[in-house]
Amino acid sequence: MAKRIFSGIQPSGIIHIGNYLGAIKQWVELQNNPPTGEDEAIFCIVDLHAITVRQNPEQLRKNTLSAAAWYIACGINPQKSDIFIQSTRPEHTELAWILSCYTQIGELARMTQYKEKTQKLQNDLGDTGFIVKAAPSAGLLTYPTLMAADILLYQTTTVPVGEDQVQHVELTRDIAKRFNNLYGQTFTIPDYSTKISGKRIMALDDPSKKMSKSAASEYNYMALSDSPEKIRQKIRKAVTDSGTQVKYEKDQPAISNLLNIHSEISGKEVAELEDEFSSKNYGEFKEALADTIISHLAPIQSKYNSLMQSPTELEKILKAGSEKVASTAQKTLSDVKTKIGLLNL
Ligand code: TYM
Repeated sequence: MAKRIFSGIQPSGIIHIGNYLGAIKQWVELQNNPPTGEDEAIFCIVDLHAITVRQNPEQLRKNTLSAAAWYIACGINPQKSDIFIQSTRPEHTELAWILSCYTQIGELARMTQYKEKTQKLQNDLGDTGFIVKAAPSAGLLTYPTLMAADILLYQTTTVPVGEDQVQHVELTRDIAKRFNNLYGQTFTIPDYSTKISGKRIMALDDPSKKMSKSAASEYNYMALSDSPEKIRQKIRKAVTDSGTQVKYEKDQPAISNLLNIHSEISGKEVAELEDEFSSKNYGEFKEALADTIISHLAPIQSKYNSLMQSPTELEKILKAGSEKVASTAQKTLSDVKTKIGLLNL
């Protein structure tokens, strides 16, 4: 069977090293060493998912182009992979509606991300510092059916995502199986691939929470765009545990997270790093970690800056990507419509 890879990121502000290590870095590896039988890798900028929470329109437009620039700067090659913007392919919302009629409200309400985002909305501090309770939108609830549409439209076999998105891919599999059972083989059942074997990149200021772009404090995350000074400052400020040894331990989540980040960026095994820093203290390890991040991000940042000088070039790449994936999306949608009894005139 032909293999097709599909993944995406929301253009809702900065892209951080959690997105990079959890997703983009594995995309680049899959693109450059394609699994046997792979015939296409598709990387989407999921702007329709971003609007499930309020966005500033001007900023969203900027963030969408900026996400494309980060994809390419990190190593996604538009000659090898298709990059496009979700909202430029209407098949996504059309299939999402159809799939929402085959998904139970209970399944959607059980999603961890839905629960977390709803909770956050209800506890958000407004500009005045008072708690402003905002009701979650229907879009926030049906978010996973749009994600299922993204994946299933392209008969995707592999979805490289960070661990926090696995639950959504599992729901996608359930929806696809349910549909296939009712109407016969229609969708490929996708598999997820989490390279960092379930390890989330945790927040620098609180290792019990995942690193997140919607965090209240910028000391939660390391943005791909952070300057060398900022990177050093954020790593110095990152919380550490009560111990003193640079060791990966369950009850030492802060240093374990920093070791994990170092290992993912430098390519060294955690055990090798523990050895290297066995006689060093947290402060010395942090300086070395900051150096590693700074030198890894420098060429990516410089490529990003030069890509952002030519927004029309980026737009051309995104248009070409959207045209390239059109026929697969249209074919799947047309098959679905026929099967469920819609007149495909
Ligand atoms: P998003 O935009 O929240 O995150 C993009 C990718 O980054 C991963 N990620 C992390 N990995 C490790 N540690 C972290 N702290 C961390 N934070 C984020 C996410 O797992 C994800 O892979 N719903 C998706 C976007 C989406 C999608 C899709 C993905 C829409 N349609 C179809 C795959 C296929 C999301 O919100 O990702």
